Amino acid sequence: MATLGVNIDHIANVRQARKTVEPDPVQFAFLAELGGADSITVHLREDRRHIQDRDVFLLKETIKTKLNLEMAATEEMLEIAKKILPDYVTLVPEKREEVTTEGGLDLKSNVQHLKKAVGNLKDSNIEVSAFIDPLGEQINYSKEIGFDTIELHTGKYAELSGSEQYKELQRIIESTHLANDLGLVVNAGHGLNYNNVKKIASINNMNELNIGHSIVARALAIGLEKSVREMKSLIKSN
Ligand code: PXP
Repeated sequence: MATLGVNIDHIANVRQARKTVEPDPVQFAFLAELGGADSITVHLREDRRHIQDRDVFLLKETIKTKLNLEMAATEEMLEIAKKILPDYVTLVPEKREEVTTEGGLDLKSNVQHLKKAVGNLKDSNIEVSAFIDPLGEQINYSKEIGFDTIELHTGKYAELSGSEQYKELQRIIESTHLANDLGLVVNAGHGLNYNNVKKIASINNMNELNIGHSIVARALAIGLEKSVREMKSLIKSN
């Protein structure tokens, strides 16, 4: 059975909307673990739009599962990762103007740079994963560069429907098999939700699914009524 990595970036998005102290991703990581999360994922972006350095340092100290730090392979981020020592790092492409990570890493054009970055992280005993599109070429480069793990981008699968979605699912299944044959651990994520997760979760040897947006959206749907009720009761009791 695949494990579940919960991405809590959106908790920090709400906090940063007011640049205040709540909601605190550290507290929500604890709740996610209570719910059964097998790991906690945060993306420390160059522009610090949601997760802050302080969050990652505190998460490393407080979580009881595993910390997956998503980041771009820049000098600044490599230095931070080596200080924090997360259980694993997932290298992702990053564009300042994007709303969320838009595609997988282009490994082919960055082989030398990524080999250095991966070696650097592995020297600190950090496992390294590559967020890639489900394509044979990217998987072969992942192996050549020295990644331990890949995370297959399921964003396209999530956006498509009908026979096009079926074809994308087949690409993800074939990619998983190819990567397994090469000895790579396979994770998947992006755009997975309560309707589309089952087919990805049932792929043989799928190690972990990383899910954020749909879980946080569901948390709001489940929790809002209770939070309004509590506020109403404070007002009434006055
Ligand atoms: N995996 C990676 C590499 C991501 O960048 C993201 C989004 O931050 C996710 C998984 C989770 O995607 P979603 O929020 O759509 O579930």
